[in-house]
Amino acid sequence: MNTNNYYDKKLSSLLLAEVYSTEIPRINQYLQAEIEFVRKHIRGDETILELGAGYGRVILELARSCKKIVGIDISPNNIEYGKELLKDYKNAELVVMDAYTMQYKNEFDMTICIQNGLSAIKGDTRDLLKKTIDGLKNGGLAFFSSYHPDFWEYRLLWFYEQAKKGLIGELDIENCRDGVITCKDGFYSRSFSKDELSELGQQCGMNYWIEEIDESSIFLIIQKL
Ligand SMILES: C[S@@+](CC[C@H](N)C(=O)[O-])C[C@H]1O[C@@H](n2cnc3c(N)ncnc32)[C@H](O)[C@@H]1O
Repeated sequence: MNTNNYYDKKLSSLLLAEVYSTEIPRINQYLQAEIEFVRKHIRGDETILELGAGYGRVILELARSCKKIVGIDISPNNIEYGKELLKDYKNAELVVMDAYTMQYKNEFDMTICIQNGLSAIKGDTRDLLKKTIDGLKNGGLAFFSSYHPDFWEYRLLWFYEQAKKGLIGELDIENCRDGVITCKDGFYSRSFSKDELSELGQQCGMNYWIEEIDESSIFLIIQKL
């Protein structure tokens, strides 16, 4: 298990919830647009996996729309806090697990890794996609999202807000550019361009397509053949 994870060590449970408790309306719109885009693809009988589920923010929104939803996260603090939040949702399950070591096989109708999860779940992204596809049933869909380049100013504003609240370190502004946010305490978040997401889709040898949502997100959607 990756034991040097910023989110696990410094930004879990209540602190992570503070990140999402933003006063910037455009960020709330972005967060909601991602969830609604995923929800649009749910019929109601699906079993869903969320990678890097945090404390279950997204699961709370989707649990009523599907048959079962499982969230995995590397941070035990997130999972403990999330279990309390989700205690009334009998079809929701949270598990401490490193996404890079998950062993699911043909279990899920849908897997989601949104809110730029590909950046937060650090490692060789191609391996993560392979494990994700292993876990999907044939015909199942995987949703990965990153930030739209036109959203950069709002994203920067949001990270300033997080730094001001003391949730992440001071922004290393000289090195915040080209979709990368860097803080002086080692926090690092990149984004994946449309081309990079397309390349990942191509490499996995499945059906894939790209969708731009709300001028804030780019989604890579993969369908297991
Ligand atoms: C930006 S947060 C997003 C949380 C959640 N998806 C949401 O949108 O509310 C990224 C999450 O990924 C988790 N994470 C990072 N590396 C991981 C890994 N290798 N396996 C599973 N989860 C991981 C972090 O602990 C953190 O909760």
